[in-house]
Parts: sequence; structure tokens; C-alpha cells
Amino acid sequence: MSTEIVNVCEYEEAAKRKLPKMVFDYYASGAEDEWSLKENRHAFERIRFRPRILIDVTSVDLSTTVLGFKISMPIMVAPTAMQRMAHPEGELATARAAAAAGTIMTLSSWATSSVEEVASVGPGIRFFQLYVYKDRNVVAQLVRRAERAGFKAIALTVDTPRLGRRESDIKNRFSLPPHLTLKNFEGLDLGHMEKTSDSGLASYVAGQIDRSLSWKDVKWLQTITRLPILVKGVLTAEDTKLALQAGAAGIIVSNHGARQLDYVPATISALEEVVQAASGRVPVFLDGGVRRGTDVLKALALGASGVFIGRPVVFSLACEGEAGVKKVLQMLRDEFELAMALAGCTKIKDINRSHVQTESERLGLTSRL
Ligand code: GLV
Repeated sequence: MSTEIVNVCEYEEAAKRKLPKMVFDYYASGAEDEWSLKENRHAFERIRFRPRILIDVTSVDLSTTVLGFKISMPIMVAPTAMQRMAHPEGELATARAAAAAGTIMTLSSWATSSVEEVASVGPGIRFFQLYVYKDRNVVAQLVRRAERAGFKAIALTVDTPRLGRRESDIKNRFSLPPHLTLKNFEGLDLGHMEKTSDSGLASYVAGQIDRSLSWKDVKWLQTITRLPILVKGVLTAEDTKLALQAGAAGIIVSNHGARQLDYVPATISALEEVVQAASGRVPVFLDGGVRRGTDVLKALALGASGVFIGRPVVFSLACEGEAGVKKVLQMLRDEFELAMALAGCTKIKDINRSHVQTESERLGLTSRL
């Protein structure tokens, strides 16, 4: 199968053929009308390049630094939950593939492999995505374990006081298959998900996740960890400023893969507002809809310091395990390198705002030239 797959999107089609419907739908779906899900892609399509020519691109250097860590490219692995539903090796395969690609993996709180198990695959720079549970002792323990296991940053999810309404999960009565657990919570009696008459995950979230989470908790988190905190789920300038005040070490512009509030803008549309509000004080990252190397170039031109990919990892994992994830990271790397060369950029710092034209600029509504 692998010889036929030539781009990231084709893994989604292949995974659809391979995975049980309940599992594929869980990974693939967005909230309600899935407007934001489609828009995450469409908004990338509306951005055009302004390439520069006759620049020596004999060698192109993709390497960059994130929170002080040198990585091979500004393409990192986003947290996606319950990866053993996709493949028996789940998060361990993803961790090996990310390390082999020289990039960062973010492990979900709701992983089906524990922080310790993921650390045991060997060296690699890893971040830990955190959901804040009502029971703060659970959070404190988990953060301590992530630190001890060598994770380098916390990506704090801030867009999920309740789970978004994903209709296929409701129809499929989604829940974690009984042979799997949310491994990080196993010893805490929070590792299982009941089957309910709608989405088992939505019920789990309603039972366990702290709806009262607020900016003061970002400060509280800093009292229990020295790890840098990335605030994940920011879409506005207002919240960017509050995140800076609360001590965030970075911002992830994210709409949770369009799985939470529908009709929020595509992340690539919200990026520039956030970048401007951050005004260079902290790095800004983006996830949501990245499927091509050209998408990475567009995000960096609009000010992102790097991007995270979610669904492509899960779908390639489902199809080919670790080899699939490696291939997806390699395909994006190759495409991004080619896009840089064709736009006249030989290093990440060469990429700037003049390399893209947004739709409003094209329509003459705004101008930067
Ligand atoms: C997990 O984070 C999900 O949104 O399903």
C-alpha cells in the first residue's frame, strides 16, 4: 500500500478503509456542521505565494529551535488521543518516528501509553499535553511524572471545559475499546471510559475535566512545575495578551482540530492576529489543517515558529505503524524543503511576510506592499 501513497491526505483515505468505523470517525470528525474542519483546509488554499527568484538554493536548511531545543524542521507532532486504537504500538510508534525525524512529539494526556512507557522508547524531545482534571492532585501527580520522564514542556489545553459535540461519536456511541485504557490515569481509577447512550468521551469529560479552569490556573500550574507552559487553543489577540500576562512560554494557535466550537476561524486565519499581539515576546505555533509542505511555508510566512500535525500522524500510524508516521514526517519535510527552494528561501529565517498574499490583500481590502 505504501508505494501508492504519495501525499499526506491519501493516508486518510487508506485509514478509512482500514479502521473500524467508530475509530476512524472519532479521529476524522469535527464538531457539529464541521464548518471549521473544512475551513482549516480551505483557508490555507486561499493564501498565495509571492516567491522570489534567482536565489541560490543549492542547499536548504530546515532546522530550527523551539523553546531552546534544536529540531530538524519546524514540523512537530500534535497531541492526539488514544493512538492504540489506530495501531497496537500506538504512541510508542509515534514517539520513535518523531525521534527518528529529529522533531518534537507531544503526548496527549489521554494517551493509551503512559508517560513512562513513551519515555522508555529512548531519547527524543517530547512535550506533554495537559487536561486539567477537577481533582488537582491528579494533575499535580501527572505533571510530576511527565517531568520525571523527561518531558520538556506542558501544552495546556484551554479550549475544552466541555467536549465539543461530535455527531458521529454520538451516533457510534463512541468509547475507548475495553482492552485499552487511558494509561496515564490507570492507577487513579480514571483510566476507563464507560459506554454511554451517546459519546462516552463527552461523558468522561463532563465527569472529570474542570470546567472552572481560568487564567489563575495557568499561574497555579507554574507553582507546581518549572516546565515551560504553552497555552494551546488561543484564537484571539485578547487571549494572547492574557496568556503573556499569565506567564505562558508560548502560544499554540489551535481550534482543537475543529473538534470544539464550530464556526471558529481556521487557525491559519487567526494566526496573524495572535502573532501581532505576541509581538515577538513568545513563540507562536499553529496546528489545524496542515497537510502540505506549502501549508508549513504559509504558516511560517505569517509568523508561526512551527506547526504541529495531528490527524496525518494517526492515519499513517493506522496504515503502517511507525513506518507510516516516519513517512508522513518525511513527506512533509520533502514538500516543505521543495516549497522553500521554489520560493527562494534557504533557511527558516529567510521566510517572511512578503512571501505570502492573503485573500484580503488580493481583493485590495488590505495592503502590505
Ligand atoms: C481529544 O483531545 C479529543 O478532542 O478527542
